[in-house]
Amino acid sequence: MPDEAPHIPVMLQEVIDNLAVRADDCIVDATFGAGGYTRAILAEGASVIAIDRDPNAIKAGQNLVVEQGGKLRLVEDRFANLEAICAEPVDGIVADIGVSSMQIDEGERGFSFQQDGPLDMRMAGEGVCAADVVNHAPRKDLTRIIGLLGDERQASRISAEIVERRAKQPFETTLDLAALCEKTLGRNQKTRIHPATRTFQALRIFVNRELHELADALLAAEAVLKPGGRLVVVTFHSLEDRIVKRFLLDRSESAGGSRHLPQADMAAPTFTLKKRNALAASKAEAERNPRARSAKLRAAIRTQAPARARDYALFGLPNLPEPQEVAA
Ligand SMILES: C[S@@+](CC[C@H](N)C(=O)[O-])C[C@H]1O[C@@H](n2cnc3c(N)ncnc32)[C@H](O)[C@@H]1O
Repeated sequence: MPDEAPHIPVMLQEVIDNLAVRADDCIVDATFGAGGYTRAILAEGASVIAIDRDPNAIKAGQNLVVEQGGKLRLVEDRFANLEAICAEPVDGIVADIGVSSMQIDEGERGFSFQQDGPLDMRMAGEGVCAADVVNHAPRKDLTRIIGLLGDERQASRISAEIVERRAKQPFETTLDLAALCEKTLGRNQKTRIHPATRTFQALRIFVNRELHELADALLAAEAVLKPGGRLVVVTFHSLEDRIVKRFLLDRSESAGGSRHLPQADMAAPTFTLKKRNALAASKAEAERNPRARSAKLRAAIRTQAPARARDYALFGLPNLPEPQEVAA
């Protein structure tokens, strides 16, 4: 990728290796972003169905669609809708979970605690925004959102300060909320992590329902992949990786039976794991691209067994209200 690439694709070589792309394959890139993975897959001769919920990403990808003359279909949608998007079974699916550098770098999208902008954080630009949650959610919900989705031990202190402050003046901007987090927690000189990091992460995940989206996408992938089809998922924090790990461990074992039942009565595994553990980025990549440091890649191959019933319990999703329930 050239230096001016808007988003440097993470673990690109590992993604391509694990997708094992063959010419004439049809591969889904569930998170088009700046098209880093899509370009590499197209270069292997496959056709691509690329999805992104962000209208800016879709607009920016239109030149590539024209250039590829029918090899690339670009769909503005949520990847949870994978099954409805794919008319036919596909040979591979890749998802690169989270936000793109473009989204973080554009202050007016409201994702960054370092750039001023409206407190928005909606990837698709519709529905409940971060300011709605911060200004209206009951304190107990705010504490749980920030604690569970941001892994923030001081969630209760932050929510108390938010509630006190919003009674006088609602939050409108990113820097406003970032300043409150800094005032509440102070700067940790040792870690150099900004005190708003976890709160912003939590709000972003909550507003975009990111964990539910991921769970839905995994279940859809099981339905949409051909036997022998490859699934590759790259995540950037432990909550997401845990969801992928739980799903793949569950689906790579026989299920439904007890050890007293004959093997024939148990549902056969729907995936074979390429490796039991997640892959990390190489040291060289982590040095070149700080974003790659927390990346984890998991890959699996679809078996012939029929997809199993949708069971959300296996994901261990945090029990939180829906964004529209707290933002009224
Ligand atoms: C990390 S970036 C992907 C970067 C891409 N792999 C590349 O090389 O340029 C993640 C992208 O996924 C999109 N995204 C996140 N959640 C989504 C969802 N539920 N449905 C569709 N797109 C989603 C974001 O809008 C963002 O553009």
